[in-house]
Amino acid sequence: MNVILLGAPGAGKGTQATRISSRYNLPHISTGDIFRANIKNQTEIGVLAKSYIDKGQLVPDEVTCKIVENRLIEKDCENGYLLDGFPRTIAQAEVLEKFSKVDCVINIDIDFSFLMERLCGRRVCKNCGESYHVSTLNGKTSCEKCGGELYQRKDDNPETVQSRLNVYENQTAPLIDYYTRKGIIVNVAGAGTPEEVFALIVKALDSIK
Ligand code: AP5
Ligand code: MG
Repeated sequence: MNVILLGAPGAGKGTQATRISSRYNLPHISTGDIFRANIKNQTEIGVLAKSYIDKGQLVPDEVTCKIVENRLIEKDCENGYLLDGFPRTIAQAEVLEKFSKVDCVINIDIDFSFLMERLCGRRVCKNCGESYHVSTLNGKTSCEKCGGELYQRKDDNPETVQSRLNVYENQTAPLIDYYTRKGIIVNVAGAGTPEEVFALIVKALDSIK
């Protein structure tokens, strides 16, 4: 099963991807995580990606598409994959179609009013990538799952979040219509608890398995 997770910054793609990946045994491929790993390792791609990510802009399509194309030919994607944060433009979706067939697009639908607070309060595990929110951490600074140190992403500040939301609206939201026309999108309400949102996603994915 080849699945795409679509949604605005902070919609809960990463939070849900962890759960979906373990339930359906699908490799979780997040282009954002791939870029952050490259930034950490100071690769050529990392240096380029950082200049866009720090401003809340998209990394150029050619670079992003090549990364995904190379990732999807790896052995663990033979029986399916879960893409988180790709495609993010119509052009990326068109390129993806040339090398893979998507079975289902889960669109996490959420009002923009939730997102600034979610993103500015997010803390991420340096080790396993799990996301938390300060409101539920009770002052804890390490990951519940692996004990790793929690940090705040550099692009989770009000100014950059605003720019990411604008980019989403202009460049990514048109994908909802694009996949609706193809008849493969399921819209899931993203305002409930992570468990409630996951239950809706499971219902959708179980019906197409
Ligand atoms: P990326 O890392 O993909 O960031 P994003 O799309 O902005 O999305 P986020 O990771 O910020 O949000 P999320 O939906 O995963 O939310 P999360 O689950 O963490 O991309 C970063 C950058 O890389 C981009 O800006 C771009 O520059 C570049 N890039 C990446 N892909 C690209 C591409 N294809 N093309 C070009 N450039 C690309 O949750 C957020 C917070 O909310 C957390 O604190 C969490 O605990 C909390 N939360 C989650 N769900 C709930 C819930 N149900 N109720 C309450 N709180 C919740
Ligand atoms: Mg994410």
